[in-house]
Amino acid sequence: MNRAVVNKMLEEKGFIDEQVDAGIQLTGEIRKLKREKNAVILSHYYVAGELQDIADYVGDSLGLSQAAAETTADIIVFVGVHFMAETAKIINPSKKVILPDLKAGCSLAESAPADKFAAFKAQYPNHKVISYINCTAELKTLTDVICTSANAVKIVESFPKDQPLIFAPDKNLGNYINSITGREMVLWDGACMVHEKYSVEKIIEMMGQHPDAEFIAHPECEKPVLLLAKFIGSTTALLSYVQKSSSQKFIVATESGILHQMVKSCPGKIFIPAPSVDSTCGCNDCSYMKLNSLQKLYICLKHEQPEIILPEDVIQKARLPIQRMLEISK
Ligand code: 13P
Ligand code: SF4
Repeated sequence: MNRAVVNKMLEEKGFIDEQVDAGIQLTGEIRKLKREKNAVILSHYYVAGELQDIADYVGDSLGLSQAAAETTADIIVFVGVHFMAETAKIINPSKKVILPDLKAGCSLAESAPADKFAAFKAQYPNHKVISYINCTAELKTLTDVICTSANAVKIVESFPKDQPLIFAPDKNLGNYINSITGREMVLWDGACMVHEKYSVEKIIEMMGQHPDAEFIAHPECEKPVLLLAKFIGSTTALLSYVQKSSSQKFIVATESGILHQMVKSCPGKIFIPAPSVDSTCGCNDCSYMKLNSLQKLYICLKHEQPEIILPEDVIQKARLPIQRMLEISK
C-alpha cells in the first residue's frame, strides 16, 4: 500500500483498512510484533476484554499516563481514545505513539474546543485552570494543572482556598469535586455521553430488585445518580472497592468494559451494569472506546500507523500541566 493511499484511508476511516488472512491468529501475531518492535500495549478498562487481556498494562487515565511516562519501550500502542494517546505523546515525546483508530474520540474532549475555551477563560482573568485529562492537547496548553478522576480532589486542594478556579470540561466531575471540597469552581458545560445516560428511576427500581447489591458509580455521572451511590470513584478505585468489599453483588454505573476486570478479579461476585435511559441503545458502551479491535490493533502495530503527531510548541506547552499533575500525584 503506497503512502498516499494510507494517508487517504487514515483521513477518511481513521485506520488502515487492510484485509487480514482468515487463518491468522491475531493475538499470537500481535505478541510477536510487540516483541520484535519493542512496543508496549497500554489499554484502558473501557476497551473490549480481549484487548485488555493482551495489554502490558491496563488501567485508568492516571495509571495509564504514569505508565506512558515511565516506559522504556520504543513504541507505545494506546488501546483507548485519542486524548489518551496524545497525552502519552506529550509526556514521552521521543516515543512513537500509535492508536488503532484515529476516530476514537471522546464527547468530553469534543465539548471544549480550544478557541471557545480561550474566550471563556478570558472572562476570568484571576482564575487558574484545572482541566480533566479528557481534553484535547490544545486545551491542555490553556491549563494550569491537569487532573483525572482519581486525583481531582488532591489537585484542587493543592491550590490555596482563596484561589479562584475554572474546571473543564466535565461539569459533573466538577460539581462533584465542588461538593467535596466546598469550592465554587467555575465549570465548563461538558459531559460524558456514557455517564450522563444513566436513569435514576431505573437504578432505584434495580436497587429494589437487588436489595443485597451495592450501587457504585463513576464521578462523571450526574448528581442525582451520584446521590444514590454507596461508593464513588475512578475506574481503578471502583475496581479496588469491589475487591475489598464484603458484598457479593454490585450495580455498576460506569462503562461496561470495567466489568471484565471486576469479574476476573472477583470470582463468584455478581456485577450488574446500571441501566441507562434507553435500555436498547447500548449506552453503557463508549462507542469511541469500542472502535478498538484486535484486528485494528494488529494492523496498527504492523504498519506503525496511525501515529500521533503533534506540533512541537503544543507538546512543550501541554507538558507542563501534565507534569504538575504527575508531581502532585506521587
Ligand atoms: P478514569 O480512567 O479516570 O476512571 O476515567 C474514565 C473515563 O471516562 C476515561 O475516558
Ligand atoms: Fe469520553 Fe465518556 Fe468515552 Fe470516557 S467514556 S472516552 S469520557 S465519551
